[in-house]
Amino acid sequence: MEKRKGILLAGGTGTRLYPITMGISKQLLPIYDKPMVYYPLSILMLSGIREIAIITTPNDKNQYMELLGDGSQWGISLTFIVQPKPEGLAQAFILAEDFLNGSKSALILGDNIFHGDGIRDLLKQANDSDFGASIFGYHVSDPERYGVVEFDKSNNVISIIEKPKIPPSNYAVVGLYFLDETAPKRAKALKPSKRGELEITSLLNSYLNDNSLTINKMNRGYAWLDTGTHESLLDAGNFVKTLQKRQGLQIGSPDIVAFENDWISKSELKIRSEKFSKNAYGDYLKAID
Ligand code: DAU
Repeated sequence: MEKRKGILLAGGTGTRLYPITMGISKQLLPIYDKPMVYYPLSILMLSGIREIAIITTPNDKNQYMELLGDGSQWGISLTFIVQPKPEGLAQAFILAEDFLNGSKSALILGDNIFHGDGIRDLLKQANDSDFGASIFGYHVSDPERYGVVEFDKSNNVISIIEKPKIPPSNYAVVGLYFLDETAPKRAKALKPSKRGELEITSLLNSYLNDNSLTINKMNRGYAWLDTGTHESLLDAGNFVKTLQKRQGLQIGSPDIVAFENDWISKSELKIRSEKFSKNAYGDYLKAID
């Protein structure tokens, strides 16, 4: 069986963060000391995924290539795919169909940040699953901003609704989806929503209708951070800064995940650290034994 491949969706217009994102892609903005895209990339790597496609707008592709290279510095392989227009999250599976070449996949949104003790096990479990679709629900105070899970009285999932005016629960679907090899075929069968997008929630409902969707609750021990507004962007940066400073441990570092996964050697890590010799991130990498 082919190994699961990763898709990191880093396109979109970023209009909610204008004027900041008028000249730069949202997912390249800093979250404290690292570019935003490092965080979701680290999550795919923590899941054990080594073959990853980065989807960008046509304008931003070169900047992503410059930042991330071919992935060999982390022992992974990166492919860059362009999304000509932001026509929905589910379109990622159509654009990446050739890249996937019949494999299962994990799609992560380039602006989603996760952190928590034990997250590696949670991700590995989803990665190892043979089930159709494995997604995560997270309790939030403002579910109307997200895809929301509707449960029946026995706690079974009835549907997933995109940005409902009256949310049926407080469980938002986070932007990380482990799907089987049927995802591209299902995505191609979707019709655009009223806002003209191939909605990820429609794709998930297609799995649900076939009884092949499972939701794992990400409990209160995990942080799922939003970067969708100016305030939440700053909050995410402060969160990373506070934790890193207090614990002296890095969050969202592909360099460290690659080393911990044994995908790069200590001497390769040292070579990487020299690139950042003028700051605390470089000092941190250099000090690792
Ligand atoms: O963050 C989780 C939520 O993400 C889910 O709960 C929702 O079900 C899902 O629809 C999505 O909601 P958003 O309102 O956050 O979607 P947004 O349009 O902001 O897109 C999310 C990211 O994906 C954003 O960084 C831009 C990128 N994107 C978006 C679209 C529509 C693309 O790269 N291409 C696209 O076509």
